[in-house]
Amino acid sequence: AATTRYEAESSATVCTGTVDSDWTGYSGSGFCNGANATSGYAQFTVNAAGAGTATLGIRFANGTTTARPAILAVNGTTVTTASFEATGAWSTWATKTLTVPVKAGSNTIRLTPTTADGLPNLDYLDA
Ligand code: GCU
Repeated sequence: AATTRYEAESSATVCTGTVDSDWTGYSGSGFCNGANATSGYAQFTVNAAGAGTATLGIRFANGTTTARPAILAVNGTTVTTASFEATGAWSTWATKTLTVPVKAGSNTIRLTPTTADGLPNLDYLDA
């Protein structure tokens, strides 16, 4: 199926921190810099043509030397904890690929950090 890009700075995406553009290499007009706290989540709303599984491509940057793990929940149900490893610089972006269950229609994909460092910077989610 065709891939849709959901930008982190889109008004359809909840970014608990700020939408920034001070590091290069992002898609669209910026990226989500979530709050540095376990409460600093980001939530994408993803449309699925039918029930089943969706392959997500989450583009992120982590300019620290420490991974920033986050719980990935679909429609409020935890699916996995994803590790967003150090990418070497805030301007160096990587894509994490994950397969998740979805229902037909609108689905919420929420990333909630497990440490007080918060999320990596998030550029977009492809689904
Ligand atoms: C720096 C960086 C931000 C990043 C933040 C963080 O302040 O400029 O883009 O989000 O670190 O640690 O999360």
